[in-house]
Amino acid sequence: MRIGILTSGGDAPGMNAAIRALVRCGIHTGYTVYGIRDGYQGLVDGDLTEMDRRSVANIIQRGGTILGTSRSDDFETERGMEQAKKVVNKHTMDLLIVIGGDGTFRGAQEFSEKYGVKIIGLPGTIDNDIYGTDFTIGFDTAINSALDAVDRIRDTAASLERLFFIEVMGRCAGYIGLAVGLAGGAEDILIPEKPTDIEALAQKIRDNTKKGKRANIIIVSEGNEAGNAFTIAEKVKAITKENYRLTVLSYIQRGGAPTANDRILASKLGCAAIDAIGKNIFGCMVGEVDKKIIYTPFQETYTKKKKVDLSIVKIIEILSA
Ligand code: F6P
Repeated sequence: MRIGILTSGGDAPGMNAAIRALVRCGIHTGYTVYGIRDGYQGLVDGDLTEMDRRSVANIIQRGGTILGTSRSDDFETERGMEQAKKVVNKHTMDLLIVIGGDGTFRGAQEFSEKYGVKIIGLPGTIDNDIYGTDFTIGFDTAINSALDAVDRIRDTAASLERLFFIEVMGRCAGYIGLAVGLAGGAEDILIPEKPTDIEALAQKIRDNTKKGKRANIIIVSEGNEAGNAFTIAEKVKAITKENYRLTVLSYIQRGGAPTANDRILASKLGCAAIDAIGKNIFGCMVGEVDKKIIYTPFQETYTKKKKVDLSIVKIIEILSA
């Protein structure tokens, strides 16, 4: 059995731990493992190399992905996919394992449907917006990195009695905002899953100041319907006339050493993917729900919506009052 592995889309901390698990578990099972560089682009270009146990030594603690990644335009074309299929044939690869998010799984679904290539997926994205797994590889590290930044900002905000808007990533999903808001004791969180009421936010900030709160920390998830952190901050300022400071955490959340939770999840899911090959399971993503390994068809991972727990919003409201 010859398998090719790649990482695709936005990198996520823990991808290297997943690569290590796939390579070592694959070799342990008797498979030949190829590492494909720069995601689907490397598959189109035939940029791959055979991996051995030593090629993944000392990477479990590293952020990013040693294979490189991309958002490949070529792979979205008919010609690119044909080229990729030729590469699969040339190296007589029996199966691909792709680590990434919804874009990666859309590509996997189309490629396997049109060209009959067997593919298994692993959820790797900081956004945690994939149906079929409680957590994606990279989410835990991202929220801890963001939380560290929020804690630092709170120190200075409380010292100078300031209002801060902090923008976190997540594309169209508020998982990062929700988690960081609760753990960071935010005064409010604005997430895409909940309508934003600027008037109410402005009133809350005014009330907080009256109550003697020294720091006002508002977490804004990117993808919010009312705009980005700057737009929202300006709208609030137009009402309160109060000055503010703003921080966009951006790529700080995506890099860095993976947490223990991400390394553990990546190692478990990597071995579960190799295990799935032996059971002739493919065309799906391997995830973990309620501590159990489950397989979700690619299409469901991006058409079904994993529910954000909105009861957390209420908890944040009560705790920050
Ligand atoms: O999907 C991960 C993510 O970091 C999102 O949170 C963010 O919206 C996006 O990638 C940014 O992508 P890029 O680095 O390609 O601009």
